[in-house]
Amino acid sequence: MSDTTRLRIAIQKSGRLSDDSISLLKAIGVKLQIRDRLLIAHSTNEPIDLLRVRDDDIPGLVMDGVVDLGFIGENELEEKMLERAAANKPSDFKTLRRLDYGGCRLSIAVPNELDYQGVQSLEGKKVATTYPYLLERFFAEKGVNAQAVMLTGSVEVAPRAGVADAICDLVSTGATLEANGLHEEDVIFSSKAVLIQKSGELSADKQAMINRFLPRIDGVMQAKE
Ligand code: PRP
Ligand code: ZN
Ligand code: MG
Repeated sequence: MSDTTRLRIAIQKSGRLSDDSISLLKAIGVKLQIRDRLLIAHSTNEPIDLLRVRDDDIPGLVMDGVVDLGFIGENELEEKMLERAAANKPSDFKTLRRLDYGGCRLSIAVPNELDYQGVQSLEGKKVATTYPYLLERFFAEKGVNAQAVMLTGSVEVAPRAGVADAICDLVSTGATLEANGLHEEDVIFSSKAVLIQKSGELSADKQAMINRFLPRIDGVMQAKE
């Protein structure tokens, strides 16, 4: 096992949150040497270990208390909470800060040739997504009977592949949709990155370190405004 006196932070290995999360840690004075193929990175000036994992795994790692902190998108966090609730598992964590990066929307997008008159147009249809719980909650709220088809990647090719009629996926610039002949219709969830902490008490040393970092995070965000 690793040294549990060191603060363990989970961050996305690669993707929309990785670079900004690492930049934020560096900006608050945490020196890091990231080697691309290594799952774990040790800080050279603070007792901190970074765990570089898939973003989907981060909420569970924090909620199960395997890591102390996690940088994660609210979309992944909310989806994981719904998934755990469905399995009668608690979702315990504290949100320390909502951050100013990682902005994106979880949206329904449809092929340009589909006649879309609102979500009712999806009645009886299949919608490919990596976020089935958020999507099914949206359908339930709207009283629409549509089927969420779970895909962990390449969601945007599903309509062309004949796997689904529409998709529900993250959109930030919209370039992915455009490249695949799709356009955004309904935003079902708006998301930014957040910093979360596991529930329960940390050691006094770890908590003191976190308390030292939070004002610096606020300072970095204010400086960017
Ligand atoms: C999302 C989404 C699209 C892309 C959209 O993936 O699945 O592929 O971003 O961005 P755009 O509107 O700027 O083109 P993400 O990078 O979050 O990775 P993941 O699906 O592997 O989590
Ligand atoms: Zn992901
Ligand atoms: Mg993607």
